[in-house]
Amino acid sequence: MNGFIFDLDGVIVDTAKYHYQAWKQLANNIGIEFSLEQNEQLKGVSRVESLKKILHWGQKTISDDEFTVLMTEKNNHYLSFIETMGEDEILPDVSKVLNYLSSKNQKIALGSASKNAVGILDKVNLTRFFDAIVDGNQVTHAKPDPEVFLNAAEQMHMQPEDCIVFEDAVAGIQAANAAKMVSVGIGDASILHEADYVFKDFTEMSLDFIDKLINPKK
Ligand code: BG6
Ligand code: MG
Repeated sequence: MNGFIFDLDGVIVDTAKYHYQAWKQLANNIGIEFSLEQNEQLKGVSRVESLKKILHWGQKTISDDEFTVLMTEKNNHYLSFIETMGEDEILPDVSKVLNYLSSKNQKIALGSASKNAVGILDKVNLTRFFDAIVDGNQVTHAKPDPEVFLNAAEQMHMQPEDCIVFEDAVAGIQAANAAKMVSVGIGDASILHEADYVFKDFTEMSLDFIDKLINPKK
């Protein structure tokens, strides 16, 4: 038996577009330009670190109180998008892979930087698949630190070397590698070149490949 750890945003659901809209409005409101390329650099990055980066790009300094207000504003805006999310926003073939892994009695965990992960999994009706959920409320060291994935392995009672991580962010691939887990990038191979394997999305991943992850020695 192996442990399969899924990142949430960009792997299970396409929430990057909502993060983008919420950050863009916030940045523009305080006079900072914000591009899709910059949004790419915020993938896998915690809420606090994301705002710090935006302020840095805009060369803006604000008080701690203002910082807290902006964080809340961004999250409320983001949550207004999440509110209407449903199963139709699960990325292609994610459910197929989850069903397959669970039919093969594999352990499944979530390893996400998001503090909204539990709510989102619930919205898209996937909570039942997960043996462990580790999210932004439980970790002190953000990806690329391996803490989130090591914590997930521990909660599944699995050794790190028996775990496989699915990730769309560079920082997440680095975290998986640092945890000595097998890293599978979901996205652009030229961006995720540090991963052990990369697929554009789960539709490109064969069940044969998953069987090999389940049973590498076969
Ligand atoms: C990550 C996303 O999964 O979670 C980031 O890739 C996001 O874009 C981070 O900033 C934190 O999410 P949240 O929901 O706690 O603001
Ligand atoms: Mg992600």
